[in-house]
Amino acid sequence: MTSALILAGGFGTRLRPLTCTRPKPLFPLGNRPLSEILVQRLSEVVDRVVFAINYQAEKIMQYFGSGEKYGIEIKYAKEKRPLGTGGPIKHAQNLLDDSPFLVLNGDVISLIDFKDMLNFHKQRGDALGTIALYPVEDPSRYGAVELDDAYRILRFVEKPPPGEEPSNLINAGAYVLDPEVFDYIPENEPFSIERGVFPIFADQMKLYGYKYNDVWLDMGKPADYIQANKYVLDHFLKKTDSSINKGAFISSSAKIEEPVHINASIAIGKNVEIARETHIGPYVCIGDDVSIGQGCRIENSIIFPDVRIESFSSINNCIIGEAATLGRWVKIEGLTIIGDYCTIKDNVTLTSGVMICPWKTVSDSIITPQTVM
Ligand code: GDD
Ligand code: MG
Repeated sequence: MTSALILAGGFGTRLRPLTCTRPKPLFPLGNRPLSEILVQRLSEVVDRVVFAINYQAEKIMQYFGSGEKYGIEIKYAKEKRPLGTGGPIKHAQNLLDDSPFLVLNGDVISLIDFKDMLNFHKQRGDALGTIALYPVEDPSRYGAVELDDAYRILRFVEKPPPGEEPSNLINAGAYVLDPEVFDYIPENEPFSIERGVFPIFADQMKLYGYKYNDVWLDMGKPADYIQANKYVLDHFLKKTDSSINKGAFISSSAKIEEPVHINASIAIGKNVEIARETHIGPYVCIGDDVSIGQGCRIENSIIFPDVRIESFSSINNCIIGEAATLGRWVKIEGLTIIGDYCTIKDNVTLTSGVMICPWKTVSDSIITPQTVM
C-alpha cells in the first residue's frame, strides 16, 4: 500500500476574511476545492490519503467522506490543537503504512509527478527524505536548500533572511518520507518538520532534492490565490469538462469570455443567474447560487457561493466571500477581499488591497490599503 498525508490544518492568516465559513483547503479553484485537486491527482498514485486537520475539520471530513468517490481510502488525523507541520505527521503514524509515504502541504498547487518522485526516493537507497525543489526569485518566504550534484541536500534553511539564502531552490511543499522519520518527531507537541527534521537529515546526508520546474504556487496571499485560480482554469480542468453548469441561467446578451468556470461539476441543481449585458471573464470562477445583475463587468476574480451582485457593478482582480451582497454601481478592484456575509452598499469603490472582514457593512469608498474589522 502507498499512502499520502495532506497537511490541511492551519488558518491562512492573509486570507482570513474568507475563512469564517470554510478552511483554506476548501477554497474554490475553478470551483473545486484545492484539496480535491490534490486528492484527484493523488488517487492515481496512492491507495490511501490521510488528511491532517484541525481548523473546521468537520467541513473537510464531510466533503471527502471515506474517499469512495475517488476510488481510494480517505482517513483523518484530527489534532486537538495545531501541531505545526511536523506534529501532524507523528499524529497520523498509525494511519500511514510502513513504507515511504508522501506528505503534501495543503495550500500548494502544482503538477509535480508524485509517482516519479516516489520512485526517485526509492532509487536513492539511503534516503530518509526527498523534497520537491522549485526555483523562485525570492526564497526568503520559503524553506531554501543547498543541493549537490548527486541531488543531496547539504543544507536546509527555513525562511532564510534575505541575502542569506543557500540558493534559489525552495521546498515546494511536497516530500517523500521514510517511516524512520517518526523517531524524530515528538508526540502531541507542536513541531516543525522544516526546522526540526530536515536540517538533521541534511547533516546525515540522507535528504535528497527532486527538481521540479512547472506550474507551482503556494496560496498564501490574495494575489497567489487569484493566480492559482488562473492556473487551474488553464491547466487542470480537462478539455472535456464543461465550464458552464447546465443549471446556470445566462442572459443571451451577456458576454462570457473563456476561461470562466461557472458552477462546475461539484454543483448539483444550483443556480447561477447572469443578467443581460453583463460581461464575465476571462479568469473568473463563480460559485453556486450566485446572482449577477445587468451591465456588470467581472474579470480575473473568484466569487464564492451565494453572492449577490446588483446591476452595473464591476469587479477586477478580487475575491468576494460567501453570501456577500454588493449593491449597484459598486466597483471593487486591486486585490481587494470582501469577507463572507459582507454588505457593500451602492456606489462604493474599494481598491488597493482593502480587506473587509466578515459580516461588515461598508457604505463609504475606501481607496487606501487597510483591513476593516
Ligand atoms: N494539520 C496541520 N496542523 N497543518 C498545518 C498546521 C497545523 O498546525 N500548520 C500549518 N499546516 C499546513 C498548512 O495548512 C499548509 O498546508 C502547510 O502546513 C504549510 O504551512 P504554511 O503555514 O502554509 O507554511 P509556509 O507556506 O509558510 O511554508 C511552508 O511551505 C513552503 C512552500 O509552500 C514550508 O514548508 C516551507 O519550507 C515551504 O517552502
Ligand atoms: Mg503555505
